[in-house]
Amino acid sequence: MNILILGSGGRESAFAWKVAQSPKCEKLFIAPGNAGTTQYGTNVNIKVTDFEGIKGLVLKEGIDLVLVGPEEPLVKGVHDFFLADEQLKNIPVVGPQQEGAQLEGSKDFSKIFMEKHNIPTAAYKTFTKDSLEDGLTYLATAGLPVVLKADGLAAGKGVLICLTLEEAQTELKAMLADAKFGEASSRVVVEQFLTGIELSVFVMTDGNSYKILPEAKDYKRIGEGDTGLNTGGMGSISPVPFADADFMKKVEERVIIPTVEGLKKDGIPYKGFIFIGLMNSNGEPWVIEYNCRMGDPETESVMRRIDSDFVDLLLGVAEGNLDTKELTISPKTAATVVMVAGGYPGEYLKNKVITGTENVRDSIVFHAGTAMDGEDVITTGGRVLAITTVQDNMFSALQQATADASRIYYDGMYFRKDIGFDLL
Ligand code: AMP
Ligand code: GLY
Repeated sequence: MNILILGSGGRESAFAWKVAQSPKCEKLFIAPGNAGTTQYGTNVNIKVTDFEGIKGLVLKEGIDLVLVGPEEPLVKGVHDFFLADEQLKNIPVVGPQQEGAQLEGSKDFSKIFMEKHNIPTAAYKTFTKDSLEDGLTYLATAGLPVVLKADGLAAGKGVLICLTLEEAQTELKAMLADAKFGEASSRVVVEQFLTGIELSVFVMTDGNSYKILPEAKDYKRIGEGDTGLNTGGMGSISPVPFADADFMKKVEERVIIPTVEGLKKDGIPYKGFIFIGLMNSNGEPWVIEYNCRMGDPETESVMRRIDSDFVDLLLGVAEGNLDTKELTISPKTAATVVMVAGGYPGEYLKNKVITGTENVRDSIVFHAGTAMDGEDVITTGGRVLAITTVQDNMFSALQQATADASRIYYDGMYFRKDIGFDLL
């Protein structure tokens, strides 16, 4: 069969690497892809939100299945677009329809959903411009720190953790009255701050049954020791030692089953991934957020621990028989180190030539923000490459990924050398 992957980051590179290995995959297309995805398939320069362009490609190339990487096309309704089109309606899309994508697209929607289905999450209240005064009063009674979340998608920047009441009130005003995050902050969720250690849990569902993919931990801050500004993700590790069988049983019973059942009870069709951002607070799981897609850079580590045919699992989601499919997970450890551009996550360097990838010994170099410039591979994004290795234990995996990252060079390159070391 012919498969189309939408997206251009490290996550989509890892998907493409895995999908291309399946005997079921004849032709693979990636739209728009990056300089690395051409190793696995054909790049087509179409934006993930250009639904008409995607339609043209799907019909021209006889695509049999579409795998959606990022949230934006899902929240904007790419799956609904397919279902509403006579020529596309029988071509399966892996990724939820607009309504299900609200789990990520609206924090308020996800909080209401969790409350309704008794899924453990931080206490909260939602405010709009009209209830700003109530919000300011509420903040005065809420404990500190307090978390403010823009309701809509805000490119990962819409969550603020405020340490003082003054800061919280100033930020709430900026979000609601001055549209700090545009339309995304026309509604703001104010929630209790949770303490503990975070991890990412991934579920694949056909709307009826589900499979739990390998869990992972990602490292969001730019600096070593988890300091400095937030980024899209600087590295990941899987498995996560503190996510032991006892903890994962709680996650399955208290979070995963109620989520999948809740979607069903609410009549929300859902075929795709559910990424659950969890806080482990003294051994108890609390949901921080849902995403309607896989994580990046978690996917790079997760794909490398899936030993079974990933396309067969995707077909299970598409055809609604996921329960009959095999998911085999490697007991080994995968580690990913993300190499970023100088200056990232602020304004960053671009168009720098990347050298040395041929010296990497025992990792896969998944491309993210890269493009071809004649014969050269150059940097185009903040997150440039994701270096992923699989080894027998965590220590070797972390060492190998870091050693391989240091074999690559471009002007201004930076990566964290301490990914996962807090877990050793
Ligand atoms: P998000 O943009 O929703 O991924 O949130 C960004 C980060 O904010 C999360 O990964 C957490 O580290 C942090 N965060 C969000 N909500 C809470 C909370 N209720 N308590 C503590 N930290 C939080
Ligand atoms: N790594 C976190 C995310 O993909 O949102």
